[in-house]
Amino acid sequence: MTDGAAVTDIDSARFRSVLGRFATGVVAITGIDAGSGRPTGLAANSFTSVSLDPPLVAFCVAHTSSTWPLLRAADRLCINILSEPQIEVCKRLAVKGGDKFADITWTGSPGGSPVIEGALAWIEVSVEQEHVAGDHVIVVARVRALDKHHEGEPLLFYKGGYGRFAG
Ligand SMILES: Cc1cc2nc3c(=O)[nH]c(=O)nc-3n(C[C@H](O)[C@H](O)[C@H](O)COP(=O)(O)O)c2cc1C
Repeated sequence: MTDGAAVTDIDSARFRSVLGRFATGVVAITGIDAGSGRPTGLAANSFTSVSLDPPLVAFCVAHTSSTWPLLRAADRLCINILSEPQIEVCKRLAVKGGDKFADITWTGSPGGSPVIEGALAWIEVSVEQEHVAGDHVIVVARVRALDKHHEGEPLLFYKGGYGRFAG
């Protein structure tokens, strides 16, 4: 550590600016709200693959999410890996409230969860475990079906902004 970044004085700005140097992709986690029968979802960059046998993935959701209680109540969720042109889909799903799917075209996964048009791939999952971790919950989910979707470049998230793969 070079400038006083002791564990006791980590503020949120420092945490975000340091952790933001880890570049990630972005997914849209989608499902059908059983109450309204309408699609809903949230954008997340905390997604990762976990295990091949059994097939597990994971992501983290803030306790403040108003969409997660709706998603976790669904039998099946769909994780859509977003493509670079889907930046507006990402922004739309990151807004609290409103009809998140108003301008989003989708079809159903085998279990009926929204597969968003233009996503690079989709992974249908069921929630397996939830682990409370500070102000988030770590969700471990079992993969039920998956496939590639559109060809294209990924949407990337880095230093709090969006970017594209240069390779
Ligand atoms: C690029 C990006 C990545 C995000 N990653 C996460 C995440 O990993 N976990 C999370 O809880 N929220 C994440 N969010 C915020 C959610 O998409 C959303 O804004 C939040 O859940 C509030 O909406 P809600 O109340 O409808 O859930 C991210 C937002 C953006 C734009």
